Amino acid sequence: MEQSKGRRVILFPMPFQGHINPMLELAKILHSKGFSIAIIYTNVNSLNPSTLNPNFTYHSIPVDLTENEASIKDPTLRLSIINAKCVEPFRECLSGLLSDDVNSEDPVACLISDPLFDFTRSVAESFKLPRIVLRTGGAASLAVFAAFPLLKEKGYLPITDSRLEELVTELSPIKVKDLRAAMPNCDPEDFYRVITNMVNETKASHGLIFNTFEDLEGQALATIRQEYYPNIPIFSLGPFHKCGPTTSSSSTSLLSPDQSCISWLNTQAQKSVAYVSFGSVAKIDHAQFLEIAWGLANSGQPFLWVVRPGLVQESDWHEALPNGFLEVLYERVHIVKWAPQKEVLAHPAVGAFWTHCGWNSTLESICEGVPMICTPCFGDQMVNARFVSDVWKVGLQLEHGIERGEVERTIRRLMVEKEGVEIKERALNLMEKANHCLKEGGSSYLSLDGLVKHILSL
Ligand code: UDX
Repeated sequence: MEQSKGRRVILFPMPFQGHINPMLELAKILHSKGFSIAIIYTNVNSLNPSTLNPNFTYHSIPVDLTENEASIKDPTLRLSIINAKCVEPFRECLSGLLSDDVNSEDPVACLISDPLFDFTRSVAESFKLPRIVLRTGGAASLAVFAAFPLLKEKGYLPITDSRLEELVTELSPIKVKDLRAAMPNCDPEDFYRVITNMVNETKASHGLIFNTFEDLEGQALATIRQEYYPNIPIFSLGPFHKCGPTTSSSSTSLLSPDQSCISWLNTQAQKSVAYVSFGSVAKIDHAQFLEIAWGLANSGQPFLWVVRPGLVQESDWHEALPNGFLEVLYERVHIVKWAPQKEVLAHPAVGAFWTHCGWNSTLESICEGVPMICTPCFGDQMVNARFVSDVWKVGLQLEHGIERGEVERTIRRLMVEKEGVEIKERALNLMEKANHCLKEGGSSYLSLDGLVKHILSL
């Protein structure tokens, strides 16, 4: 798009894997539409520009956590420390970029930031710079978060343990237990405050971008447009990673993906492998780790398991596995610290994805037509999982925690039994829809056109 040549967009991702990936995918999409791209990043989970898209400029701001701060267990407190530390360095960086702008051939059109970076609104406003927000999670989970004040009023929040299985009638098929979004080690009230802040900061933006598509979350998008954000334009142009050029060899991974996954998958039968990964943040305890291991072993299926260092509390890696576990299973198991997940999900040997239902993982699985087993841990993951199992019906949820018998049964229901055949059919159908929306005239294709016009009008 010729008009976008000569305009620059500044993007500022939150320094977490699940937020970095979609923000940098969005940058790639906008670059393919002719915009110049500047990325601002912190030293917390610092990006490595040498592995990233060489067509962008990268600007680091000196924000890091001390050892004490990094070891704080409460994630809402850690987030507020990062936010407080970012304000001035971000202001200075933005000021530098904007003052270079005066004689620049590509003046800045807008900032695109993560709504959890709540200070970006006031800083952008102080420079009269339009700010668009990228919601890196889904639309349905945002609609649930935006309903928190109503849910408090109706008595669903704070949650009472005796009501966990109850349906939230205003948000069917969401159950009360799906509202347990607070991350471990934080006070639910503090978490609700962070969420409410995110919802409100988004209202005060020049637009809201989603990494989703109409055929997937049309109803939630309509609710968000009508009830929560009637005054700002909303764009749904996902799935980002399937949109725009795919040739770039750049990697946004903070950990190095272990390519041995692919050679191991090459030795396995079609659709036989259960791929297991709980993303970049979730943690499990020793007991859960062993239930997963035995459930997988007893299922009889081969499995590729991402055991991220730090996934198992108080362990360095997978040393809590019983003696001889790996030797006995031998070729039926492959464990890595980090996988090239999109490649793995696209591999013909993968038949199911046991996931924590982070939004990126959910979308990546949908795009490859891989049915899911869901173990949501916190935040948006509960709502994503409920949609996977009860709305799109492309997966099964472990409703009662992680127990080896249920794990084994669920894997077999999905990968061996007739029930699984129907789920797979629906997953393939949804994959078709994900492909279709990106084609000329499709909903995400048109929404991207709308976004480009909107940025140029700012
Ligand atoms: C976090 C939150 O937990 C999630 O709920 C929210 O939607 C986004 O932020 P995370 O837990 O890391 O994200 O999950 P997810 O959203 O699935 O993102 C993980 C990303 O890491 C995916 O893009 C996935 O492809 C990638 N990944 C994961 C790998 O590349 N290799 C792996 O081994 C595991």
